[in-house]
Amino acid sequence: SGEKYYQISELSPELSGQKVLLRGRVHNVRGKGKSCFLVLRQQTGTVQAVLFVDDKTVSRGMVKYTSAIPKESIVDISGEVHVPQEPVAGCTCSQVELKAMSVKCVSRAAPLPFELADASRKEEDLQREDAQFATVTQDTRLENRWIDLRTPVNQAIFRVQSAVCQLFREALLAEGFQEIHTPKLIAGASEGGASVFRLDYMGREGCLAQSPQFYKQMAICSDMARVFELGPVFRAEKSFTHRHLCEFTGLDLEMTINEHYNEVLDVLDRLFVYMFDGIKSRCAAEVKAIQEQFPSEPLAYLPKTLRIPFEEGMRLLQEAGFEPDPLGDLTTELERNLGKIMKEKYNTDFYILYRYPLAVRPFYTMPDPEDARYSNSFDVFIRGEEIISGAQRVHDAALLTERAQVHEIPLESIQSYINAFKFGAPPHGGFGVGLERVVMLFCGLDNIRKTSLFPRDPKRLTP
Ligand code: 4AD
Repeated sequence: SGEKYYQISELSPELSGQKVLLRGRVHNVRGKGKSCFLVLRQQTGTVQAVLFVDDKTVSRGMVKYTSAIPKESIVDISGEVHVPQEPVAGCTCSQVELKAMSVKCVSRAAPLPFELADASRKEEDLQREDAQFATVTQDTRLENRWIDLRTPVNQAIFRVQSAVCQLFREALLAEGFQEIHTPKLIAGASEGGASVFRLDYMGREGCLAQSPQFYKQMAICSDMARVFELGPVFRAEKSFTHRHLCEFTGLDLEMTINEHYNEVLDVLDRLFVYMFDGIKSRCAAEVKAIQEQFPSEPLAYLPKTLRIPFEEGMRLLQEAGFEPDPLGDLTTELERNLGKIMKEKYNTDFYILYRYPLAVRPFYTMPDPEDARYSNSFDVFIRGEEIISGAQRVHDAALLTERAQVHEIPLESIQSYINAFKFGAPPHGGFGVGLERVVMLFCGLDNIRKTSLFPRDPKRLTP
């Protein structure tokens, strides 16, 4: 009939007396004799609908039928907007309720594997000894992810995720970058052989891209001076940790530089301050919802991001009684401790560690021209965990070949990549960000599976 479907967010006392039609889920339903109270939900919004048996429109049968509709079913409710004497407790739309005239079940829900209310418990309630409810394990949640995602906290997490991508795009487009899309089916490993998914590509061996690394650099060689990409990244990570996935979303950029890779860090700095400010202002309600279920300290960051040379970081760790290898990589444990030191010393959870030892960086990383033990590279951390790695790249084909040989990379597998630098290539650099990690660490969450819509880990390929 073309009748308008209303959103809960559109309802207000001004509509009092008006007939409206809404579609949503049965969040809760309770029949009591001649009446029935139904809480209708649309995403995180809820409104109460009340059915009373009367002579005209609502029959006993209608009340009985409605009372028996299972939770989470999709229903159409037609009713009159009504301003109750008291605000409706527990509903997001508390100023009005619906005097329902008819309820139609559009899609009936099967019995639920867990209660959404149980999946929405606050951490502090879970700790309570007299807890009267079931705890829902992460595995059960993930097995039934399409139900789990309906909780307010999960609705909030994926809105924050969407905002991060939007802010990333906005900031970079404003800086003169262009968005590109690079192939995910490629001939060789892009980040080293250990964690590559190999596959059959029409009878020869192919790989799933471990990053857009080679292709974003080849775009630079094709005269696209500033490029970025948001896309899937595949890693055959055998490690089963709180921060590794086998598929994640990479936010990558690459840009030409004139004199120094500081130019890349300047872009990074503006980009992240813009993104953090943007999440705080645009997603205040979401951040609050996440905080309510999973309390954490809000992210501390500076207007100009702190930059610490790797050597200085090692010195601070030594001073604090740790024994880092001054030319080795940082362990997860040391990264975390350095994060704590930075927080105490500079009151920031977000900082850049630059000039890493060359030996621990990928072959395409530019050696430090002053001291070849080091490289023009950096990692960026939130709360002591890595979210970004980046560098200036080698743009000379001969040096790139030499570096690949040092890393024992079969040259035939990367020949077209090396060739791209033989016809004039500008100095350039860039970095890659893990989207799920940024959201996890910005929100102070404990597991990356919480920020991946349908996480892929060594054990999980469904749903
Ligand atoms: O440190 P990675 O491997 O660096 C690269 O891919 C380079 N090509 C980037 C560059 O431009 N130099 O990955 C970049 C980021 C990490 O900092 C981390 O946030 C995320 O990607 N990441 C993962 N996220 C989830 N699961 C995994 N297994 C991840 N591996 C890396």
